[in-house]
Amino acid sequence: MKISIIGAGYVGLVTGTCLADSGNEVACLDNDPEKIAALRQGEVPIYEPGLTELIKNNARAGRLRFTDDPAKAVAGARCIFICVGTPQRDDGSANLEYVRACCLEIAPHLAEDAIVVVKSTVPVGANRQVASWLKEAAGRDIATASNPEFLKEGAAIDDFTKPDRVVVGADSEDVVAVLAGDESVPLLVVEELHCARRHVGIPFDYADPNARPALLSLRNFETKSLSGRLGDRTSTPQDSPE
Ligand SMILES: NC(=O)c1ccc[n+]([C@@H]2O[C@H](COP(=O)([O-])OP(=O)(O)OC[C@H]3O[C@@H](n4cnc5c(N)ncnc54)[C@H](O)[C@@H]3O)[C@@H](O)[C@H]2O)c1
Repeated sequence: MKISIIGAGYVGLVTGTCLADSGNEVACLDNDPEKIAALRQGEVPIYEPGLTELIKNNARAGRLRFTDDPAKAVAGARCIFICVGTPQRDDGSANLEYVRACCLEIAPHLAEDAIVVVKSTVPVGANRQVASWLKEAAGRDIATASNPEFLKEGAAIDDFTKPDRVVVGADSEDVVAVLAGDESVPLLVVEELHCARRHVGIPFDYADPNARPALLSLRNFETKSLSGRLGDRTSTPQDSPE
């Protein structure tokens, strides 16, 4: 699959490199030209065991490239992962300026079937904002999804390649199908508040203590109601209209 990563920082570099290593064609965009120039030379600005080697191998194999040009980064891409920073403001709220800026930059260049996936840590309702920024700049609706990240610095490659759960938030089954990937990994699919339909893809065992951090971190979703529904279900994928 052709994939774009927006923001070649910690999350973006690990995500993009691991996706390239599993055979995808990945372009990483960053608006810091010095960072892009360094990455092209194989200089990795973060410390993560094994990452430099993995970047070099995949760049050499032609599966991973770096650019500061939004049009080149997203041309023909099916999935575009937003991995820019969302720093805290003084009042504790997340600053979404970088998310907004990159939406406006990439939107005019997105493919017809593009899915924009937010990996950055964002608050309640952010995906509706993302969809509206994309529409404003593209002049049409663009599919969006959430796929929050649980990487631990120092073990990020293992966390990405062998996740104990993957969390996807979307209101379209087609989008979920594209993102679901490896069926052996527990998948929790949730919907945003006020969506017309709920999608719960399992297997996902809510009694599993590993599941709790994932649910707790999903502050932007209706986790209370969802967790109640998951309590007595641990297997078959299900889609129940409201
Ligand atoms: N670092 C972690 O361990 C971690 C784990 C889980 C989630 N997160 C979340 O993931 C997000 C990214 O975190 P990070 O640590 O990778 O941030 P980072 O600061 O390391 O990287 C962000 C990158 O985005 C680039 N950028 C900013 N605006 C851009 C634009 N308009 N176009 C292109 N590139 C742009 C910056 O130059 C920078 O290189 C944050 O929301 C963070 O909260 C981080």
